[in-house]
Amino acid sequence: MSAQMTTCRCGDETEAQKRARVLDVVDQYKDQEGSLIQILYLVQGIYGYLPIDIQQLIAERMDLPLSEIYGVSTFYSFFSTQPRGEYTIRVCMGTACYVRGGAKIVKRLSEMLGVEVGGTTRDRKFTLEVMRCLGACGLAPAIMINDQVYRQVNPDKLHRIIEKCD
Ligand code: FES
Repeated sequence: MSAQMTTCRCGDETEAQKRARVLDVVDQYKDQEGSLIQILYLVQGIYGYLPIDIQQLIAERMDLPLSEIYGVSTFYSFFSTQPRGEYTIRVCMGTACYVRGGAKIVKRLSEMLGVEVGGTTRDRKFTLEVMRCLGACGLAPAIMINDQVYRQVNPDKLHRIIEKCD
């Protein structure tokens, strides 16, 4: 008996298929009270972010104004209305990190990647963000790339750190 391999085919999904999945998600949850956040969370899993035309699709299906969907999707920091990079780089700008050079790290990363804070590189590889204390103050300044924390970072170390993102 041969081992069965399964390969993720999400990247091959057509726009129509993605939209159908969005509608399935909405239909599954829309009658549950307070389910909008859950719906948006699942839809963000389909697109990687919440495009405005998809917010409109959700609004129509839920019979809600677009402004309500938009309000929720822009209120919570875990939702994004813009395409995001494969790697999200978050630079801590809490007090300890700021005092120890957090702003210089932001500036250097912004120059290296060619994006402002909140932006995503053209190749959709990196999104640059800042955040509040990430709990590594003793070894400030710190940054986070996806789930990995890097401590005692200085601008000259950044190239080596970024090169690891492949
Ligand atoms: S202030 Fe940056 S980790 Fe606490």
